[in-house]
Amino acid sequence: MRIIRSIEEWRDIFRYHKRERRSVGLVPTMGALHDAHISLVKASMEENDLTAVSIFVNPTQFNNPDDLNNYPLTWDEDVRKLEEAGVDYLLYPSYEDMYRDGYKYKLIETDYSQDLCGTARPGHFDGVLSVVMKLINITKATRAYFGEKDWQQYRLIAGMAEAFFLDTEIIPCPIVREESGLAMSSRNKMLTPEELEIAPNFNRIITSGKSINEMKAELESLGMKVDYLKEKEGRIFGAVFLGKARLIDNVPL
Ligand code: PAJ
Repeated sequence: MRIIRSIEEWRDIFRYHKRERRSVGLVPTMGALHDAHISLVKASMEENDLTAVSIFVNPTQFNNPDDLNNYPLTWDEDVRKLEEAGVDYLLYPSYEDMYRDGYKYKLIETDYSQDLCGTARPGHFDGVLSVVMKLINITKATRAYFGEKDWQQYRLIAGMAEAFFLDTEIIPCPIVREESGLAMSSRNKMLTPEELEIAPNFNRIITSGKSINEMKAELESLGMKVDYLKEKEGRIFGAVFLGKARLIDNVPL
């Protein structure tokens, strides 16, 4: 696996692969990798000649500085996992390289991005869409892979690709869970052992078939603070605070 820090260096490499007519799969991440990230990597490796994973903890999508400062960093382990999976390129750009303009230019969606996770996190999806647009333009990926755990993120990125005529195909990947039902997340690393015992109740409760109000009451009684819980598009979407972590999940009705 080649680790590439410079955006210019990647562009040279990509031009070479393009001449050789190789397809490129891109898996954007913020590191602190777990099995769900690796499932996206596997999907990309099956469908493309080359797979590039990016690790970039994108400051513009964090509306809360504590959340950014607490975001787990596990670089050595991440590199080992990606090497073991057989990834070809790890892109690891710097903030200065990615945001040469100082984030004066950004991409904004004005409707769906205000709902669900966008309500309590103003500007979050502007940051996500802007960085994903940059990564897609830098890599010129044939396909880019996104997890359905972040359903709203995936839908917004797919909408952006359509609205801006991107050639990159946006591929959704199923939610990967712990045996307990807890959706895997880098933020689970912020949970204490006691909170880790409580966390699986989140998925258990939103799949229970009870009313939204009953679910909310049950979540709160277990010490989770509900950010939102909504039925939409035939799914239930939820976000809860547990200790230092904000957990999200969604399930079909
Ligand atoms: P990150 O949270 O690191 O997630 C990277 C990718 O892994 C996202 O597409 C996310 O949906 C997917 N993923 C995480 N946990 C998952 C799970 N349990 N099951 C399925 N997929 C899962 O999402 C981001 O980073 C950033 O917003 C990013 C898109 C990289 C832009 O900065």
